[in-house]
Amino acid sequence: GAPRPRLTFLGTGYLGATYAICFAELGYDVLGVDVDEPKISKLQAGAVPFHEPGLDDLLRRNIAAGRLRFTTDYREAAEFGDVHFICVGTPQRADGMGADLVYVESAVTSLVPHLTRKALLVGKSTVPVGTAEWIEQLVSKHAPAELGVEVAWSPEFLQEGHALEDVLRPNRLILGVKSQWAHDMLITAHKGVFDLAHNEDREVPVVVTDFATAELVKVAANAFLATKISFINAMAEVCDAAGADVTQLAKSIGYDARIGNKFLRAGIGFGGGCLPKDIRAFQARAQELGAGEALRFLHEVDLINQRSRGRVVQIASELLARPYGPAGPDFSGLNIAVLGAAFKPNSDDVRDSPALAIARSLARHGAQISIFDPQGMENAKRELPDMTYAPTLGDAVTGADLVCVLTEWEEFRYADPNALGDLVAAKLVIDGRNCLDQALWSAAGWTVRGLGRPSV
Ligand code: UDX
Repeated sequence: GAPRPRLTFLGTGYLGATYAICFAELGYDVLGVDVDEPKISKLQAGAVPFHEPGLDDLLRRNIAAGRLRFTTDYREAAEFGDVHFICVGTPQRADGMGADLVYVESAVTSLVPHLTRKALLVGKSTVPVGTAEWIEQLVSKHAPAELGVEVAWSPEFLQEGHALEDVLRPNRLILGVKSQWAHDMLITAHKGVFDLAHNEDREVPVVVTDFATAELVKVAANAFLATKISFINAMAEVCDAAGADVTQLAKSIGYDARIGNKFLRAGIGFGGGCLPKDIRAFQARAQELGAGEALRFLHEVDLINQRSRGRVVQIASELLARPYGPAGPDFSGLNIAVLGAAFKPNSDDVRDSPALAIARSLARHGAQISIFDPQGMENAKRELPDMTYAPTLGDAVTGADLVCVLTEWEEFRYADPNALGDLVAAKLVIDGRNCLDQALWSAAGWTVRGLGRPSV
């Protein structure tokens, strides 16, 4: 068939690095591009600057095979690539709402003036709807006009901790395109993905659509997931009030295939670099478009999520018999072990982590906090330097008046409640993720309190 296009990934953060490495693994010649010199050196030396299972090996293998390189030089990127994927960050703006597109703008304007042949720019970053059109204007202003450089949009759906699978075996491919050429180029650029699926007797559904729809697919998917989590957390509040058990409720409604059993785990709610910021940016964009009313429910989704974090302080106040005063409960003189810092297990990411937000809040109410996380310690220390961090799970719980499980790491779920019971001052545990085997812990003499479940 036709020779494979050469690919660049602009921005080698979590998204771009993962894609660059996986597409090299699929056999493409790949160049990762970033303005961050230390990050590029690190990657080129074979070290992934974040935690993602399996990625280190793939990185080293593909550098060794000569299929993967990294650079800070946009001129080199322009010469190298046929298809350029925009993977830079789109952080929350300082005003707290919309997405900041400065990195997108600088990636495009750094690249396109140096292009010497026709190329395709493909947006992957999560952006406000309308960004692809705006990039097209940037391209027509800054790229050599005679080349006919084109733009396309193909959102990603990576879940941290599961990212390799999500890139190599995507459950769908969305192609926002304006021309047959762009369509064909994108298909060729994903041939490795289709070949792998074919070898494994799978289908990869492809949706070919316009720019605006492709951009919206990503934020709509994240808004739906966030809503599903807040829905079950709202049910957890009702279960607490009614003396019901939200885990059994979730299981029961989940058997209905129209509802499904995924993303119905009640607890302290969602965090991370995507869901919280994406639902806020989506609301801001809808507002700008005059459709703000349609997304007003997302404000409520956000509020339920914030409230879920606050539930741990409330429950701690009940369990520790430290009632609310005007400034909330007073936990002074008490030791609380916080198990978990990452926003979810199998990740070292602490961005907008419910676990850390709760740790901060417990400390603000006077508790002496001891935090342990299997992977997230370094990032947590950077984010919350004033906290006490324990080197092991055992150290964290030693002398604790209360243990809070806030990230459902296997190390916590399968910890031995008998052994931990010997270390603590009181056998009280708040299961912020409803991930513990309540019967087992209770048999070991613990009082276990989940969110949306009666105490045992
Ligand atoms: C998410 C989307 O899943 C992914 O498709 C998108 O590309 C980026 O955002 P990610 O942020 O990696 O991925 O994590 P995810 O596994 O979706 O979890 C998000 C948060 O929701 C975590 O804090 C998790 O603990 C929480 N969560 C998830 C729940 O509280 N309950 C659930 O049932 C599921």
